[in-house]
Amino acid sequence: MGTKISGFGFYVPENVVTNFDLEKMFNTSNEWIVERTGIHERRFIASNEQNTSDISVLAAKKALKMANIEAEDLDLIVAATMTADHLIPGIGTIIQNKLGCKSIPAFDIRQQCSGFVYGLEMVDLYIKSGKYKKVLFIGAEVLSTGLDFTDRGRDTAALFGDGAGAFILENSQDESDIIDSILYSDGKYLKDLWKESPNSAQKGRVTIEDIQNGKIFPKMNGKTVFKHAITKMPAVVTELLERNNLTKDDITQIISHQANYRITQMVAKRLKLPMEKVFSNIHKYGNTTAATIPIAFTEAFAEGKFKRGDLIITVAFGSGFTWGANLIKF
Ligand code: UT7
Repeated sequence: MGTKISGFGFYVPENVVTNFDLEKMFNTSNEWIVERTGIHERRFIASNEQNTSDISVLAAKKALKMANIEAEDLDLIVAATMTADHLIPGIGTIIQNKLGCKSIPAFDIRQQCSGFVYGLEMVDLYIKSGKYKKVLFIGAEVLSTGLDFTDRGRDTAALFGDGAGAFILENSQDESDIIDSILYSDGKYLKDLWKESPNSAQKGRVTIEDIQNGKIFPKMNGKTVFKHAITKMPAVVTELLERNNLTKDDITQIISHQANYRITQMVAKRLKLPMEKVFSNIHKYGNTTAATIPIAFTEAFAEGKFKRGDLIITVAFGSGFTWGANLIKF
């Protein structure tokens, strides 16, 4: 028996932050951001009003409604996030409580921008093992409260936004399935996309110097990340197709992680696919890390880009480095 995505949905905060708003915070321009990334605006939570578990719950409620099940019917919650409300505990248990679920297992995974493709394989295998039957799987981030909105951090501060997406996954009673997944990592690129502080070797974890030197903010070697993203994502999609005796023409839609519109264009070009087959909504939300895929999946479906029975591929690349792809019969 397969695994079916029976419900999905997303939530983004109401507060729209345009590139023109960022121009008032640090030395940047709407032209630079649009030309280099394709981003026009993103959503930020209103500070101290919402956190990652709050926006996760709002996305989860939409997915539960679509799947036509109640929170009490769930038997597992998995949340992919690198921006949990607190360092201890993760948001899985907070979501379990806020949704009013029974006492079920609930936990977080990290994996940054690849969180959703990693978690989707894990949840799929849990369901296929027979251990869990109705799973809430969330990708959610509040990134805006941890960015460096000064000239020093402009290369990352211009990219990210807040958002949450949720899937309900169940035993499939029809042909729907997560057919296959391929995941990779290469830890030698740790420092090409990381946040140095807090640091487990440091007494107190964070020093005043860390704060003064901006080590508490994400740091990225953008060109290295870009180069690997446009190579690794098409390669893993090609491997997934070949392993399943499929060609690119069998795929109705590729839902790619939304990191940069130029990356999405390069993925399409290298796979020799028209842009209509590789979904993009980065212009509206920026990069919401683990949330980009469920948000894009939900919007692509709403826009009629795919229907039940179609083959979809989800693919991501991110910090670690980590990357991977899932082949879905929707
Ligand atoms: O989800 C995974 C996480 N991240 C990614 O996938 C991001 C991958 N990388 C990228 O998307 C691109 O590398 C960026 C969008 C981050 C940067 O684009 P780029 O074409 O690689 O630009 P660059 O880093 O070569 O920078 C070009 C110039 C630099 O100025 P100089 O040294 O040429 O004078 C930067 O300082 O653009 C400058 N710059 C900016 N200018 C205005 C960097 N950030 C900004 C900014 N506004 N926000």
